[in-house]
Amino acid sequence: MSRTFKILRLPGDGVGPEVLDEACAVIEAAVAGTDVEFEFADGLIGGAAIDAHGSPLSDEDLQKARDSDAVFLGAVGGPKWDHLPKETRPEAGLLGLRKALELFANLRPVKVFDALAGASPLKDDIVAGADLMVVRELTGGLYFGQPSERRTDPSGRSAIDTLPYHEIEIERIVDLACKIARQRRGKVTSVDKANVLNSSQLWREVATEVAARYEDIEFEHALVDSCAMALISRPKSFDVMVMENLFGDILSDEAAVLAGSLGMLPSASLNGKAPTRPGSPASMFGMYEPVHGTAPDIAGQGKANPIGATLSASMMLRFSFGLDEQADAIDAAVAQTLNDGIRTGDIAKAGTPPVSTAELGAAIRERLAG
Ligand code: IPM
Ligand code: MG
Repeated sequence: MSRTFKILRLPGDGVGPEVLDEACAVIEAAVAGTDVEFEFADGLIGGAAIDAHGSPLSDEDLQKARDSDAVFLGAVGGPKWDHLPKETRPEAGLLGLRKALELFANLRPVKVFDALAGASPLKDDIVAGADLMVVRELTGGLYFGQPSERRTDPSGRSAIDTLPYHEIEIERIVDLACKIARQRRGKVTSVDKANVLNSSQLWREVATEVAARYEDIEFEHALVDSCAMALISRPKSFDVMVMENLFGDILSDEAAVLAGSLGMLPSASLNGKAPTRPGSPASMFGMYEPVHGTAPDIAGQGKANPIGATLSASMMLRFSFGLDEQADAIDAAVAQTLNDGIRTGDIAKAGTPPVSTAELGAAIRERLAG
């Protein structure tokens, strides 16, 4: 009996469609000859959706996401839509999707592939072997807090954003971070700004309570400013790092420096719930997307690195579909491709010509088969 997983593709803007195409071809290749089938549906998000129907995420596409076992997203945004007000920008589509699907847990693994230790501007001995997981809270904090608005009064212009957290939101994300640490090296660093912010003081209090339930976990608190420094000066001292939404946005891009390129990083956004589609063989609903953005400067030129998207697809197989064996095979094929020196421009060795997005995707598929 075959198992069919429904995947909604939301390629979005810029390099999103190119990297998604390669990653989808890789997962198809990974399940070839098994009883697993993927049923792809396509939807619009971000600027592509604005151009088509005036809104960055339609109700229809949101419903398609709910009817899927997993969502596979490219990237959103670009200069063409930069003039739009915040509520109707491409980014609002992504934020709306995260919020509507309650995807509160954003997992961003940062692993330095042996072959790429030299690709980081940091010294080899600092980055080689670094392997950490940023667990970013994704549906609370500054991104969604109210009030959030521009104001004008006779004294001039002002603006406000709000950073609220409820203990329930902190509890569930820190708890997940501890569970993930159990599958890894057993250490959790909770990142906050508890020397200044009320929200961080609550974060630290609740995180301490959660940690008390996990005696087997080595748990520490870190202030976000000094942690930002430690992340690139001693990255190997971190295993799982858990933090609020904006801190996670910032530190995960910083951590990309370890991996050699933002184009390398995958992510999974989970709500901890089983899929709602009747008869679904999936174990957990999730949205998967590379951490990188739309890279408008190289969009449509076949230069984008498809590895972030491919590793995101591998996370989808692992977390939502329980296809660990195929996910392991994809991860190994990516490592082998890098070992063989096949690289896009962002990670290419000096003097070695870069390959295209499609060539890198094909190289990964060849190594899957072999
Ligand atoms: C990310 C991105 C998004 C974010 C943008 C595109 C809204 O930077 O996923 O890290 O800020 O969360
Ligand atoms: Mg970001």
